[in-house]
Amino acid sequence: MGFFSFVQEIAMDLGTANTIIISDDKIVVDEPSVVALDRRTDKMIAVGEKAKMMYEKTHDSIRTIRPLRDGVIADFTACEQMMRGLIRMVHTGSRLFSPSLRMVIGVPSGSTEVELRAVRDSAEHADGRDVYLIFEPMAAAIGIGIDVEAPEGNMIVDIGGGSTEIAVISLGGIVSNNSIRVAGDDLTSDIQEYMSRQHNVKVSERMAERIKIHVGSALTDLGEEAPEDYIVHGPNRILLFRWKFRFVIKRSHIVLTRQLLR
Ligand SMILES: Nc1ncnc2c1ncn2[C@@H]1O[C@H](COP(=O)(O)OP(=O)(O)OP(=O)(O)O)[C@@H](O)[C@H]1O
Ligand SMILES: [Mg+2]
Repeated sequence: MGFFSFVQEIAMDLGTANTIIISDDKIVVDEPSVVALDRRTDKMIAVGEKAKMMYEKTHDSIRTIRPLRDGVIADFTACEQMMRGLIRMVHTGSRLFSPSLRMVIGVPSGSTEVELRAVRDSAEHADGRDVYLIFEPMAAAIGIGIDVEAPEGNMIVDIGGGSTEIAVISLGGIVSNNSIRVAGDDLTSDIQEYMSRQHNVKVSERMAERIKIHVGSALTDLGEEAPEDYIVHGPNRILLFRWKFRFVIKRSHIVLTRQLLR
């Protein structure tokens, strides 16, 4: 707390599904990467969990956006607004001047120059004075306590919402990496497609994600460990009356078969 501006250091994992901000070695923000904007003025109405509640719901004057797709920024203005909103959550207490920010941001290891520029620009527009970028597998390795400087290889596989990062880290650098744009969100949309094709039931992205988390499995046979049946609600796509269906997904019925490591 102070009268004069000072530098605050924050680390940000700007993810397709969730954004995490760390300050003073503590997670201070962990929110879904969603922002709700006023359709006419583009002013931010809500960010994070609050905005996620509005996601996929139609409203005349509000549009909700997930600014990142496949691990990279897809909507610059919305991304800046979201970053601003989330950074504002970090600033607590009454300050006459907001601190200038020194930020380090995780980026997918397969990012192009243009994508890196986009992250840097968005961060600078969201009041980041010094902005540093770090490849996500390196940040993950440091985060879980691996000695990244050691003369030995460690492999990191990070399956996120929009991208899967696979990297071998040794002697303080990434010696081999692959970043593929198939991850959790694709499995969610595969479930939506499956429900529609197989059962004619339209399920929302949120519902499909819940199905994935509750009964999704990468193995076809879970034996004794199979989860309980899961009840799914959704309108039938064919019936004119658009009945709401109560639907039971059988134990380990949904099998996540996307081959991630192609
Ligand atoms: N228990 C679970 N089982 C299966 N999938 C899960 C589970 N919990 C979360 N997920 C999925 O993980 C993904 C989010 O992971 P994470 O927060 O690491 O992504 P992200 O860092 O935002 O994305 P990216 O790194 O690709 O930009 C979502 O697709 C979510 O549905
Ligand atoms: Mg991630």
